[in-house]
Amino acid sequence: MAKMSLKDLDLKGKTVLVRADFNVPQDADLKITDDTRIRATLPTIKYILQSGAKKLVLMSHLGRPDGKVVEKYSLRPVAARLQELIGEPVRFVNDCVGDSVKKEIDGAKERVVLLENLRFHPEEEANDAGFARQLASLADVYINDAFGTAHRAHASTEGVTHYLKAAAGFLLDKEIRYLGNAVQNPGRPFMVILGGAKVSDKIGVIENLLPECDAILIGGGMAYTFLKAKGKEIGNSKLEKDKLDLAKSILEKAGSLNKEILLPVDNVVVDNIDANAAAEISGEDVPAGKIAVDIGPKTILLFEDKLKSAKTIVWNGPLGIFEMDAFSAGTLEVAKFISTLKATTIIGGGDTAAAVAKFKLEDKMTHISTGGGASLEFLEGKSLPGIAALSEK
Ligand code: 3PG
Repeated sequence: MAKMSLKDLDLKGKTVLVRADFNVPQDADLKITDDTRIRATLPTIKYILQSGAKKLVLMSHLGRPDGKVVEKYSLRPVAARLQELIGEPVRFVNDCVGDSVKKEIDGAKERVVLLENLRFHPEEEANDAGFARQLASLADVYINDAFGTAHRAHASTEGVTHYLKAAAGFLLDKEIRYLGNAVQNPGRPFMVILGGAKVSDKIGVIENLLPECDAILIGGGMAYTFLKAKGKEIGNSKLEKDKLDLAKSILEKAGSLNKEILLPVDNVVVDNIDANAAAEISGEDVPAGKIAVDIGPKTILLFEDKLKSAKTIVWNGPLGIFEMDAFSAGTLEVAKFISTLKATTIIGGGDTAAAVAKFKLEDKMTHISTGGGASLEFLEGKSLPGIAALSEK
């Protein structure tokens, strides 16, 4: 059964409770350094305000304050940014549950209210039923637009749906549509680019997508456990010894399914990981004592040659230490290349989204997920509690 979405509801005169993911990065002065997640929720916010709702009550977490009030994790700076973005006053309420919160919402002259960090209460992450009921008591209807937190069964993502009609917001809908289509109904060839430090983080994705896709291209730290499994020398590059057998069995499985797994054929190597370290290009084997920090130029060409025919590309994990400019070429060149293709390009959240933002290529990708852990779990084929809990049509 399809899940209920925002447009299925009559919001006229209603108080609407929206779970957003406003977990945004901030600098030491609590200035928001990337407001993507706030902007991504604007279509839902604007629609609710235009649909004649009486009040819009927004709630979110920020950081991991562990059930305590930690001032640096206050959502107050988000209220200020949101106000600028929507062009109307946003009332910030110092807590998220209780009679005084309810009274403040009811009495507020502002239509838009943002509650304080849900995770200041331990009951949020514990998915406490009483806490969920208190959140639900603030409104007439609940909308989940927090894709980034949809993999958490918390009171504000799962518990609350037991007490209110629950529908998906436009962002959540969009994420499900793009990620879901890519996995279940991809235009072919369907290619998956995986990177990042650890094989262990990507095993679930490989196992879920290997049978579905046409090729997997692997770079980043995780590539070296695979190269070692193939008998290559990897010097001092990242190795997960306990994942060697698994890497071997994945390579064998790919062979038996007739799927290609492409690994680096050359590497940018250094003596130690330092932005100013002298870098060299090695072949497929990394010399003793050296650490691979990026894929090399031949690998970039190899990957581009493979990707040029793709109709769907899902990318999760950078191909080198892109945060250091000297080791960002692999991630940058592949990002630039796929941004020119007539293919559906889906970028997983977290580091890959940060890389694409750093290279200013966001507008050239089909979809950049706002979820890090959530997009990974989605690509692993797992059911996300925040989505599963929504009401059916
Ligand atoms: C994220 O940034 O991935 C989400 O906001 C979820 O945060 P969490 O990992 O602290 O639950």
